[in-house]
Amino acid sequence: MLSRIQTLLAELKAATPTTPEAVEALRVGMLGRSGQITKLIDDFRELPPEQKRALGKPLNDLKSFAQGRIKELQEKLQSEQATGAASLDLTRTAIRAPFGTRHPLAKIQREIEDIFYRIGFTVEQGPELEDDWHVFSALNFPPDHPARDMQDTFFISANPDTLLRTHTSSVQVRIMERQKPPIRAICPGRVFRNEDISARAHCQFHQVEGLYVDRGVSFAQLKQTLLYFAREMFGADTKIRLRPSFFPFTEPSAEVDVSCNLCGGKGCNVCKHTGWLEILGCGMVDPNVLQACGIDPLEYSGFAFGMGVERIAMLRYGVNDLRLFFENDTRFLQQF
Ligand code: PHE
Repeated sequence: MLSRIQTLLAELKAATPTTPEAVEALRVGMLGRSGQITKLIDDFRELPPEQKRALGKPLNDLKSFAQGRIKELQEKLQSEQATGAASLDLTRTAIRAPFGTRHPLAKIQREIEDIFYRIGFTVEQGPELEDDWHVFSALNFPPDHPARDMQDTFFISANPDTLLRTHTSSVQVRIMERQKPPIRAICPGRVFRNEDISARAHCQFHQVEGLYVDRGVSFAQLKQTLLYFAREMFGADTKIRLRPSFFPFTEPSAEVDVSCNLCGGKGCNVCKHTGWLEILGCGMVDPNVLQACGIDPLEYSGFAFGMGVERIAMLRYGVNDLRLFFENDTRFLQQF
């Protein structure tokens, strides 16, 4: 009987069934009602006591080994079916996980921040959800003045008055309210205007506005700062041109053009054959604004400017449709 036990043990160890049916056949053949182990146990009962003593343990060990082995085989097949591991091909070449890239708008915003950081400007943040005071009133927009229509506003509620900021000039107001001059700060951030989405306009976009307030700040300094910025951003040969303009919060005000970096000023489709591209608005901070923010306009003066990040990115990268920046098509984004 001992040799039968050993044969069955060896058979169990060698068996490698690969289907659930084969495992079941093995189980029935060993442990089923007329299985080989079951038969051994029946024979064992007929043996004289001294043989029983010698064979009891090996026989019991065989039975529990068989039960354990069959359970293990059943579980292995089940988990292979669940994960498809049976069809796993470890020799196949790996699929490369695609790396993300920085968004072109984030890159340009960083670059603008960096250019001004190098000449002593700090970077300041403020809320996107604002009130009338910080977006309009403190910036010298009189109530019901048509200048408020320059920027189509998303109003959220009337009381308390809440709206989405239309420019980050609101952050400049907050800085002036809490900090004494000298102030040298840029305010990057998202702004909102109730405009139809097209290749050139969007209801949300990004700005970087700048503010410098101190004793004796002059228009000449503003011009030189903007020339420095334009050359850092668009190249060392870049020229700038200032055209008189109007903003309620600056006096005098100007719009700034840079020489077209695509045609070198000769005239092309992008600059509409003028050789110039408009990039920002600027001016000397209106004394009324300084006063509203608690800064004495007789002691201090300042300049401010504001630009759209999308516009700068379009000019730098030659992108002709603003919507591409917001669609998050990776084929577009991967080019930067
Ligand atoms: N706030 C203006 C805008 O959003 C830009 C600007 C800022 C103009 C500062 C002049 C001075 O269009």
